[in-house]
Amino acid sequence: MKILILNGPNLNLLGTREPEVYGDQTFESYFKSLKSKFSEIDLDYFQSNIEGEIISKIQEVGFSFDGIILNAAAYTHTSVGIGDAVKAIDTPVIEVHISNTHQREEFRHISYISPGAKGVILGFGLQSYDLAIQSFL
Ligand code: DQA
Repeated sequence: MKILILNGPNLNLLGTREPEVYGDQTFESYFKSLKSKFSEIDLDYFQSNIEGEIISKIQEVGFSFDGIILNAAAYTHTSVGIGDAVKAIDTPVIEVHISNTHQREEFRHISYISPGAKGVILGFGLQSYDLAIQSFL
């Protein structure tokens, strides 16, 4: 089974970015623990701060991978283009967020990803990614 974790803008700064919201672990170290926990899965990881690169990655894997776990970060709330890409592919997409966006500012309550997503997992910290992987098993 091939699954891609696709992270959007500023998630490369996890570990130091607003630790009271996002915790103090880097994604690289968390990803290592996911790889060893789910060793039977071919787990890939890609992060970009650039909207077009995220769209290109969705198109690249979206007809061959078994799943995409997408945290589009701030683009979740703004990007018609990423939302359209999610709808355009065959691979099921699980939308994840580290924080519970519904407990935060109103602009974070809107998602352009959710209408095309198979499901949404949010508010469990980094464990949201673990739960999303389990949804594919
Ligand atoms: C986030 C929530 C978004 O509102 C925010 O812009 C992020 C991270 C989360 O994982 O909680 O960058 O997607």
